[in-house]
Amino acid sequence: MKNYDLSGKVALVTGAGRARGLGEGIASRLAECGASVLITDLGQSPGEHMPDQHIGAADSMEGVAQRIRDNGGTVQTWPLDVRDESQVKAAVARAAECFGRLDILVNNAGIGYLIAPCTELPEDKWDAVLDVNLKGPFLCTKHAARQMIRQGEGGRVINIASQAAKSSFPHMAAYTASKHGLVGLTRTCALELGQHGITVNAVCPNHVTTGLGAAQNDYFSNHFGLTLEQYIGNIRARNPMRREGKVADTANAVAFLCSDQAAYINGDSLNVTGGEEMH
Ligand SMILES: NC(=O)c1ccc[n+]([C@@H]2O[C@H](COP(=O)([O-])OP(=O)(O)OC[C@H]3O[C@@H](n4cnc5c(N)ncnc54)[C@H](O)[C@@H]3O)[C@@H](O)[C@H]2O)c1
Repeated sequence: MKNYDLSGKVALVTGAGRARGLGEGIASRLAECGASVLITDLGQSPGEHMPDQHIGAADSMEGVAQRIRDNGGTVQTWPLDVRDESQVKAAVARAAECFGRLDILVNNAGIGYLIAPCTELPEDKWDAVLDVNLKGPFLCTKHAARQMIRQGEGGRVINIASQAAKSSFPHMAAYTASKHGLVGLTRTCALELGQHGITVNAVCPNHVTTGLGAAQNDYFSNHFGLTLEQYIGNIRARNPMRREGKVADTANAVAFLCSDQAAYINGDSLNVTGGEEMH
């Protein structure tokens, strides 16, 4: 399905190495539209707050790349911890080395499984969430935008925020703060980079049962004393469209924002929630 033409464009997507995650869906959709994509992710666990079961490991990232290649897409993979500025610089350089340029950055990497009441949340978990979800997009935008400015042909930065960027959720102080912050980062970078033809926007999805979403389902169904089915049933019941979000809903919004058709949309934070969030 190629209804936006991104041929000749080069995209870097962070946190895209986990099967069935939003990153896989976004990378896959951009490749379908003709973009060449550098798929990046941690590749291996960097420590206790990002254990193996929650990250995109090297073999999983290769699996994502292979599925996209099998579908005719052009992709490469590269390990990137978005908290590390030298790795961020190297990843931007890698995109240019592989494909000659960089036109699109999707800041998708995020952690949403460090959940606790604000009175119990340890400082190091707060730091881990803010580092990945907010400092990471800042560092990636800084270096990707430098590359785009050097090229002189504009570009796109898309930040994957969340419904938690607009509303609050219990036990998710760090996550909610990081995503609200990401909207602020989006607006400031949009102001600064618009003069270079680079638009900066955020996409704010509601709940999607990815690997991260499944960890939240487990935590909250347990917390509220509900079965998983009852918990998911409640999510569906409160949504105007009576369903959870799908990976494709977010991937389609990202492809649109990357297209020429969205050239004058800048600094926005687009809800992709079936009407659950309206501001
Ligand atoms: N699933 C949802 O319900 C939902 C809703 C709204 C927003 N989001 C956001 O969408 C994005 C993708 O989430 P997902 O649901 O696909 O989860 P996911 O767990 O499949 O993907 C998150 C990815 O981020 C990577 N990551 C974690 N720390 C990293 C680091 N330091 N450097 C680089 N990569 C790192 C992980 O390895 C993983 O592959 C996140 O930013 C998340 O907050 C998810």
